[in-house]
Amino acid sequence: MAHPREFAEGLSIGIIMDGNGRWAKNRGLPRTAGHKKGAEVFSDIADYCDELGVSSVYFYAFSTENWKRSEDEISTIMRLFEAYLHEAIDTMERDQIRLKILGDTTALSPAIQGLIDKTDAIAARLPGCFQANVCLNYGGRDEIVRAVNRFAAEHPGETITEAAMAEYLDTAGIPDPDLIIRTGGEYRISNFLMWESAYSELYFTDVLWPDFSEKDIDEAVAEYRHRDRRFGGVKA
Ligand code: FPP
Repeated sequence: MAHPREFAEGLSIGIIMDGNGRWAKNRGLPRTAGHKKGAEVFSDIADYCDELGVSSVYFYAFSTENWKRSEDEISTIMRLFEAYLHEAIDTMERDQIRLKILGDTTALSPAIQGLIDKTDAIAARLPGCFQANVCLNYGGRDEIVRAVNRFAAEHPGETITEAAMAEYLDTAGIPDPDLIIRTGGEYRISNFLMWESAYSELYFTDVLWPDFSEKDIDEAVAEYRHRDRRFGGVKA
């Protein structure tokens, strides 16, 4: 659908991609088939956000709690992610996409960490471009704890401020999400962007992630446009 530029231009959007397992189960397929389809949808929706002029998008791909899943499921998600990183290394510059991985990357495989180093180096050459953030081994609480510990190590004896905190988070320099979309019919945040979502508008849909489409982003942004954001103030 064609939109006026101002429809989504400059917005920052967070997406909790839920429902891959149920999508697969509904089709009599293994859960991993849901993640494979989910990874394709992730790629398409990232491109669509870029097309819409969105400034940054955050995708919740794997949480600090997702290690509780079966080895088969975890290795499938990691393989999909590794394939995506290879693709990104070849296309980021051409497509002017600044990919950033958020989360505790030290727990990821050395192969994935090596690929992330490469995407970080490319991203450093793309200031101001559309920013796609993938949260991997990410937890909002874990991010806050890591940030506070780094601050304390670098500033012994000092107290932390909100501004300093923002500089030590994984999301330093990236706009907080204006809108957070969760697919899959659950109404919770599940440890996603705990600090950054303080004033995000929340949008929940029953659509399972592998069925999520451009039309669903359009609907979420259209609803967001009707929200009255006051950031704790009163209406003028
Ligand atoms: C939630 O659905 C989904 C995940 C925990 C994994 C999301 C991963 C992808 C979309 C693939 C990632 C790949 C790349 C390249 C970023 P669920 O499994 O919890 O679904 P359910 O609630 O129906 O069981």
